[in-house]
Amino acid sequence: MTNPSLLILPGDGIGPEVMAEVRKIIDWFGARRGITFDVSEDLVGGCAYDKHGTPLHDDTMARAQEVDAVLLGAVGGPKYDSLDFSVKPERGLLRLRKEMDLFSNLRPAQCFDALADFSSLKKDVVAGLDIMIVRELTSGVYFGEPRGIFEEGNERVGINTQRYTESEIDRVARSAFDLAMKRGKKLCSMEKANVMESGILWREVVTEVGKDYPEVELSHMYADAGAMQLTRWPKQFDVIVTDNLFGDLLSDLAAMLTGSLGMLPSASLGAPMDNGRPKALYEPVHGSAPDIAGQGKANPCACILSFAMALRYSFDLGDEATRLEQAVNAVLGDGVRTADLLNEEGITPATTAEMGDAVLAALDASL
Ligand code: IPM
Ligand code: MG
Repeated sequence: MTNPSLLILPGDGIGPEVMAEVRKIIDWFGARRGITFDVSEDLVGGCAYDKHGTPLHDDTMARAQEVDAVLLGAVGGPKYDSLDFSVKPERGLLRLRKEMDLFSNLRPAQCFDALADFSSLKKDVVAGLDIMIVRELTSGVYFGEPRGIFEEGNERVGINTQRYTESEIDRVARSAFDLAMKRGKKLCSMEKANVMESGILWREVVTEVGKDYPEVELSHMYADAGAMQLTRWPKQFDVIVTDNLFGDLLSDLAAMLTGSLGMLPSASLGAPMDNGRPKALYEPVHGSAPDIAGQGKANPCACILSFAMALRYSFDLGDEATRLEQAVNAVLGDGVRTADLLNEEGITPATTAEMGDAVLAALDASL
């Protein structure tokens, strides 16, 4: 049997630093658990533009379609701000999502016990929080046509289009219901059916799909009210399903409830491949953080936990995923903190590599 294949795209900013820690974890699973991957590495984002003049080379795109899973760090940085829109680093990531048809983006917001004090919200509001946002990732206003900046009379007009087909809503809704069945059997769908036709259709289709999942308690919320409820009492939610743009906003909000963007992973899943595994890309929710790039300050946990999601969703290794998640939890419990997890003066933060090494030590201790 051949080993499962992983394509690693560290990208820009802190991407390479956090990914270096994930490489250590991958090696650990090979050496200590006999779980070996066929790992290849390539460029995406600004670094790909620097080398090839495009944020995603066609060969990289083709490779991403072949492998069992893609692991991505982050893209973007101020160096690329003035580039033409079509070659901006983010276009590389969006092309991967679109061409791999990764329509279901899972963004868990989980509050680690040791970090409950660190949230900007009161401890009892966030302690034990465990919600999952399912964000539609391949359609909506991110991709809808017409789009562009056009001349109209004597001025310019910027246009983007929110567009959803029934089948696009249906498939992401099903993935959210399936997840809810494995969790707390509660699903809240968020849109703006009060002002948008696409929101009306969204609500109708989700309601229709819900008939196939009678055990799941389905509710609907306008996305603005959803944002308010997420900050007021986030533990009322189990799974949330929403569109591409609302999902972008709400997942950042939900992530910050847990204390730091530096802790949160994500999985972007598509249809099953011939081998039964879903097309999949895993990436931390945080961005490239150019202000701290190259300084060893970044928190590698979100990227490490993204690899844990890969173990669970691509490789059916849920127990090993849990082992890795518990190792991260243990390290936090021991008080190891990167700079993003510290709000007191006078404590020296752990470096990116120290945090990675601490997770490795906790993995050793788990055996
Ligand atoms: C995210 C990011 C991306 C998005 C950017 C980098 C294109 O904010 O994954 O949430 O807007 O989807
Ligand atoms: Mg975002």
